[in-house]
Amino acid sequence: MQESRMGKSPDDYSIRLCDGPDIPSVIRVNSLTLPEHYTDDFYYQILRSYPETFFVAEREGGVVGYIMCRTEHGLSVLRRFGLAKKCHVISIAVLEEHRGKGIGTRLIQQAMEKVRSESSKECYLEVRVTNVQAIELYKRLGFKVVSTLSGYYKDGESAYTMATPL
Ligand SMILES: CC(C)(COP(=O)(O)OP(=O)(O)OC[C@H]1O[C@@H](n2cnc3c(N)ncnc32)[C@H](O)[C@@H]1OP(=O)(O)O)[C@@H](O)C(=O)NCCC(=O)NCCS
Repeated sequence: MQESRMGKSPDDYSIRLCDGPDIPSVIRVNSLTLPEHYTDDFYYQILRSYPETFFVAEREGGVVGYIMCRTEHGLSVLRRFGLAKKCHVISIAVLEEHRGKGIGTRLIQQAMEKVRSESSKECYLEVRVTNVQAIELYKRLGFKVVSTLSGYYKDGESAYTMATPL
């Protein structure tokens, strides 16, 4: 059994706001875990614009996961008509060897707590239709599939839009 499964308890991890010097580590986590990458400047822009919903998970001084979000004003994702202030989860990831410890759950919960206190009414994200683990995690947190975006990703895979009221 891997050390990660035996020796690391959820208490070994802390969740804190991302800071500028964390960005290279966030980019590293992204490049190791997801096929969707962004320019370095994009991460810094998101941090500058939405610092309060950009969190990192840390263990022994190293970044092992992150979530970054954007606040948007526009058409409601959950209701057929109407406008809403929304939290869009742009990206969330946890290094493989640190998964299954509740880190992903805690990252989303922290971001949702923050945007709820800022009066956002809904939270939404896109997820690959085959990303069963992530989809199950979002469902446990109250997200529901609201639409399918056909061929959403560069490789042609479709995405679900999942959303939850806040
Ligand atoms: C999706 C992702 C962020 C989830 O991160 P995570 O830290 O593993 O998430 P959690 O630990 O909170 O939940 C995952 C599982 O661990 C279980 N778990 C939660 N807390 C736990 C704990 N304290 N001890 C043991 N297991 C636990 C959960 O029940 C869940 O089980 P499931 O696999 O049956 O659903 C991670 O899989 C990842 O980075 N994937 C690659 C990138 C990606 O796909 N991102 C999403 C793009 S939309």
